[in-house]
Amino acid sequence: MINSIRGFNDILPPETYIWQHIEKEARQIFETYGFSEIRVPIVEKTGLFSRSIGETTDIVEKEMYTFADRHGESITLRPEGTAPVVRAYIEHKLYGSDHIAKLYYLGPMFRYERPQKGRFRQFYQIGAEVFGIDDPKADAETLEMLVSLFQKLGLEGISLQINSLGCKDCRPLYKEKLLTFLQDKKSQLCQDCQRRFEINPLRTLDCKSQGCIEITSHAPSILDAVCDGCKTHFKKVQEYLTLSQVDFSLNPKMVRGLDYYIRTTFEITALGLGSQNAVAAGGRYDGLVKSLYGPDVPGFGFAIGVERLVMLLKDSVQRSAFSVQPLVFMITLGEKAEKAAMPMIKTLRSQGIKLERDYGNKSIKLQMKRADKLGAKLALILGDDELASHNITIKNMEGGEQEKVSLDKVEERLRILLSNP
Ligand code: HAM
Repeated sequence: MINSIRGFNDILPPETYIWQHIEKEARQIFETYGFSEIRVPIVEKTGLFSRSIGETTDIVEKEMYTFADRHGESITLRPEGTAPVVRAYIEHKLYGSDHIAKLYYLGPMFRYERPQKGRFRQFYQIGAEVFGIDDPKADAETLEMLVSLFQKLGLEGISLQINSLGCKDCRPLYKEKLLTFLQDKKSQLCQDCQRRFEINPLRTLDCKSQGCIEITSHAPSILDAVCDGCKTHFKKVQEYLTLSQVDFSLNPKMVRGLDYYIRTTFEITALGLGSQNAVAAGGRYDGLVKSLYGPDVPGFGFAIGVERLVMLLKDSVQRSAFSVQPLVFMITLGEKAEKAAMPMIKTLRSQGIKLERDYGNKSIKLQMKRADKLGAKLALILGDDELASHNITIKNMEGGEQEKVSLDKVEERLRILLSNP
């Protein structure tokens, strides 16, 4: 047997109905906020990611699926969606005169991480990016949209944590402050933090190792160190979130694993996910479009980890909420009935009725068994008797009641029976 690759999952029915439900709700809510869907390739030139996510990030240093194509060009399976969307925004000049564009995407991402609960090598994200608005209203409104989606999906026990990482002017000053604070404690930090000490000391703040947590618990807060412009921006984000009735808490130790963020960053965590507890994350990335050779346009966005969201919904939401369309199963007895049923099956399906059938002229017992296995709500039974009297039998698979219906009334009757819960 050839198995799937470690960290790469099959998503099987009926779980796929949860996925479809999430995607449908996301599309609906995002559209109401003025977002349109963009589809970008799964593979991009490697430089796009190293330049945007950052050469010294974990993703670029050790998690990318990078290989040479047949002409020796280095290409990479996308580890995230923001960089490709920015590239497309620049390449197709999606910025009108005002530079504003609101785009969302869904699809698989690839990171060579150690697989564990909620962490995979191929995983799906649903993301959204807003270009061209530096006003904090964009931050707050996009977060409001994300939280509304989670609420609509019935997700419970989530918490939104926000932080400001300052800007290119004030963050270097904070970095210096933090380096000074950490200098005499360097040898007590975990190996990862020691390695990236000079280049990216901020990562120490959200390192999960117990030693680093203790050391950084007395570190100076970035929120006290950011410049006045960043402070005002962040204050306004909070004010607007409050006005939109979006609950949040401040987490000055939250540093994201991608280098493009400035000012507002956030994570939404959920109970029940274990150590990989972020179900969505994102932030502001003014400067990224410019650094990828586009105009100087600000940006803000997020991505949801769909597997994690599905894990949470599987526990908390009834399957019936995913509105799986009820199934009708056509049972035919004998060749004559099978042929007579063919145009009827086509008509019923063309009317939107979900209908499965037998293909092998099997016994009524076997056909019933399959109807049962598929969870059919109703079975239609067509045999010689029914054909002679121009009728068909409808059997309720749950209660077992049967009734005979004239062939020209089948659709009408099915509709009534299917709409009854
Ligand atoms: P990220 O924090 O790397 O941000 O990923 C966003 C979400 O994707 C995470 O919170 C998590 O739910 C999910 N995720 C990440 N890695 C894995 C994995 N290996 N297995 C399962 N789920 C995973 C970004 O990707 C940014 N592009 C978000 C963004 C958009 N920022 C601005 N715009």
